[in-house]
Amino acid sequence: MDNRPIGLMDSGLGGLSVVKKVIAKMPHEDTVFWGDQAHMPYGDRKQDDIINLARTGLNFLLSKDVKVVIFACNTMTAQAMPTLQAETDRQIIGVIQSGALLAAKKTHNLKVGVIATTATVESRDYTKEIQYRNPKIEVVEQATPKLAPLVEANEPSAVRQAIVAESLAPLQDYDFDSLVLGCTHYPFIASEIQAAVGPQVQLIDPADQVAQYTFNVLKRDGLLADRTVVGMHRYFTTGKAATFSHMARAWLNAPGLTAEHLD
Ligand code: DGL
Repeated sequence: MDNRPIGLMDSGLGGLSVVKKVIAKMPHEDTVFWGDQAHMPYGDRKQDDIINLARTGLNFLLSKDVKVVIFACNTMTAQAMPTLQAETDRQIIGVIQSGALLAAKKTHNLKVGVIATTATVESRDYTKEIQYRNPKIEVVEQATPKLAPLVEANEPSAVRQAIVAESLAPLQDYDFDSLVLGCTHYPFIASEIQAAVGPQVQLIDPADQVAQYTFNVLKRDGLLADRTVVGMHRYFTTGKAATFSHMARAWLNAPGLTAEHLD
């Protein structure tokens, strides 16, 4: 039993889609979230840059004595996880294997689409991980670099729908039955994405499986919290704390949430 918090990190608000699932699955756990809004989007950056930025977040979370770290960011998982896992003995959990597992399980026509940042798509990690589970599955990956900044900007619905439609247009000739939301920002625009691809396509949010996998790891290692009260949650951002708090309160349905700013 271990009452230390679970650490989660992302370039921005997107990681909150994972925080939400982790809290729902493990309500007694404390969490600490680090969002690097001052440097987002990560998806347009080079690998060295992503590694260095993610290292800052990882060291911050380790300074908070977290028992496990979740890279609640596909871009960090693809570009920085192997390097940074070698620098700490604290376990780091990524999101791509979880998304690949769900996609391989859920597709019926063995055709899967993936939308993600440019850096994630360039890694081809989703294709590798999905085909590792079932080599018969065809995977089409599409970079949609405008979508994470769109979520952060909190644009009105009509603007969101137009940018989502334009970003997904290159996929219109593919008949995949499952589409992986390969960036943790995308669950926040899931309804616009669903409208763009049509109701016959099921959207796959890796966060469902990330929460389950994290629970399994903590249970296996005897690290689940030993308490009956609900957990406490802290949020840190390198961006504007007031903007972060405003959006996070709505998305997490947590009226009392107040984020702290980090230089
Ligand atoms: N939320 C991040 C991900 O899952 C990406 C956003 C960014 O480009 O910074 O890849």
